[in-house]
Amino acid sequence: MKNQLTANELRQKYIDFFVSKGHTQISGASLVPENDPTVLFTTAGMHPLVPYILGAEHPSGKRLTDYQKCIRTGDIEAVGDPHHLTFFEMLGNWSLGDYFKKEAIGFSFEFLTEVLGLDASQLSVTVFAGDSLVPRDEEAASTWESLGIDRERIFFLPREDNWWGPAGETGPCGPDSEMFIDTGRPACGPDCRPGCSCGKYFEIWNDVFMGYKKNADGSYTEMERKCVDTGMGIERTIAILQGKKSVYETEVFTSILAGIEKLSNKHYSDQEESDISFRILADHIRTSVFILGDPKGMAPSNVGQGYILRRLIRRAVRHGHKLGIEGSFLGELAL
Ligand code: GLY
Repeated sequence: MKNQLTANELRQKYIDFFVSKGHTQISGASLVPENDPTVLFTTAGMHPLVPYILGAEHPSGKRLTDYQKCIRTGDIEAVGDPHHLTFFEMLGNWSLGDYFKKEAIGFSFEFLTEVLGLDASQLSVTVFAGDSLVPRDEEAASTWESLGIDRERIFFLPREDNWWGPAGETGPCGPDSEMFIDTGRPACGPDCRPGCSCGKYFEIWNDVFMGYKKNADGSYTEMERKCVDTGMGIERTIAILQGKKSVYETEVFTSILAGIEKLSNKHYSDQEESDISFRILADHIRTSVFILGDPKGMAPSNVGQGYILRRLIRRAVRHGHKLGIEGSFLGELAL
């Protein structure tokens, strides 16, 4: 699969597509959630929209689209492999009590096939298998099927795979339908399916059918006004479309990796051990720059967001030293 769409081009095509479908483009928000004291950072595109998903009227209407800076540090220790990032950008389209499942899936299918040029046979999707609280999502499955996704490419998966949210500890959530690119590689075994880590399937997009609110006591309340939340990670998606093995091989990371090569006199992709340090350093500097540049103005400290920033900077310095870089180098790489 070779579609040399850059991050900037994907971002623009996505926004243009959803604007052409009656959505209003809104600005992304700060990395610090306004309305959610349960987490330190904005973790998903829908995070700043939680009050509107819960019923407040949004000044820009009921159909919205944007790109949002996100930070997820829950699996910071996994950064260093070819895929994990602590900072990423997420594209999204929202229906605030307007369209629901059928239309959301229709928009996703049209964007993937007609704008990105993917063939239906390159896609696999997952839908919620149902449990004692929420029924199996036959409607999502039959919508995908009616659009041209074969039944054997539609996988019913349980709550741990096909339930999204809330973004913090409480708030809107619901069953979702995830879209995967099938690389065409052979299945690794009889249980291979989207979500398998063998590399056959790559997730690129998630449509969440927000019909529930999770309460502080762990219970769920069904929401009367149903919403749609979607999330497409830009870095991952362009890596897959460009046929790259890793997000770090895309143009998003070219200049920072070149800067690390220059300072360390080492080459990226020569040796797995130094590659890990290259990736950690590149990811952590990028995330730190976005935290420092955020309108909320954060600085390193021993609490809250500042603590995370301090931890990222310390790890970045440690991995710079592992690569043999001496002196104070972060400022030069951050430019
Ligand atoms: N909010 C949907 C997602 O992050 O996938």
